[in-house]
Amino acid sequence: MNRLAGRRAIVTGAASGIGRASAELFAAEGAEVLAVDRPGSNLSFQSNHIFGLEADVTEAAAPGDVVAAAVARLRGLDILFNNAGVATSALAAQTSDEAWDHVQEVNLRAVFRLTRAAIPHLIASPAGRIINTASVMAEGTDYGLAAYCASKAGVLGLTRTLALELGRHGVTANALLPGAIRTGMTQESFAQPEIAEAWARKSVLRRLGEPLDVAKVALFLASDDAGFVTGQTLAADGGLTLRI
Ligand SMILES: NC(=O)c1ccc[n+]([C@@H]2O[C@H](COP(=O)([O-])OP(=O)(O)OC[C@H]3O[C@@H](n4cnc5c(N)ncnc54)[C@H](O)[C@@H]3O)[C@@H](O)[C@H]2O)c1
Repeated sequence: MNRLAGRRAIVTGAASGIGRASAELFAAEGAEVLAVDRPGSNLSFQSNHIFGLEADVTEAAAPGDVVAAAVARLRGLDILFNNAGVATSALAAQTSDEAWDHVQEVNLRAVFRLTRAAIPHLIASPAGRIINTASVMAEGTDYGLAAYCASKAGVLGLTRTLALELGRHGVTANALLPGAIRTGMTQESFAQPEIAEAWARKSVLRRLGEPLDVAKVALFLASDDAGFVTGQTLAADGGLTLRI
């Protein structure tokens, strides 16, 4: 129950899906959490250990604002969970510059910029942790996912380099690779039974993932149990990627 006692965490994309489940689980495990999501999103939580902050992570001022809010509300920072993300679906030949740029900005550039702003505080923490949500699509692909796969592969490169550069300060950086999870992002697709069933069948556990399945892995990476784990990718995909 207290695996994150006394820890201070930022979770982005915390209004929905994996981010919401993680913010709630981190708080239930003793953390104080700054839950960040786009203006207008639902940032109300039952726990009074979760503070909502409306911010578009792609805005120029977002990294400074988010980190300043963490310092003011939480009195510091131990865990940065970069989880906000968007998906697009368009064949490469039909992907516009705007669509490409938006996906890179949310999924990759904002992760870099928020992490850069958080680094001094993570270094000051006795147990600094960076967790970046990538995707099984960082290593695999599917039709229509050029922009998304490129952004998530970029997250892996960024994560490995952060692990290398921050290790001497005791800060770990790892990437989480969800498989097919029932969230806001997949709601429309998985509302179609044939699509939901097809993805459930691809998992060797024969089911879709739930946000809590992934939040539990984020909790592990955030906790002392993962203190000697860095620069790694950890898939929470029900075995989706086992078969070639
Ligand atoms: N659902 C899946 O099957 C799946 C699989 C692999 C990876 N992922 C990744 O998991 C992460 C979480 O997504 P989810 O599946 O929980 O989807 P979700 O849509 O439920 O949650 C994503 C959240 O990110 C927020 N967000 C998007 N753009 C933002 C911005 N510019 N500023 C602030 N917040 C922003 C959204 O408002 C939303 O609340 C994403 O990085 C996604 O790419 C999801």
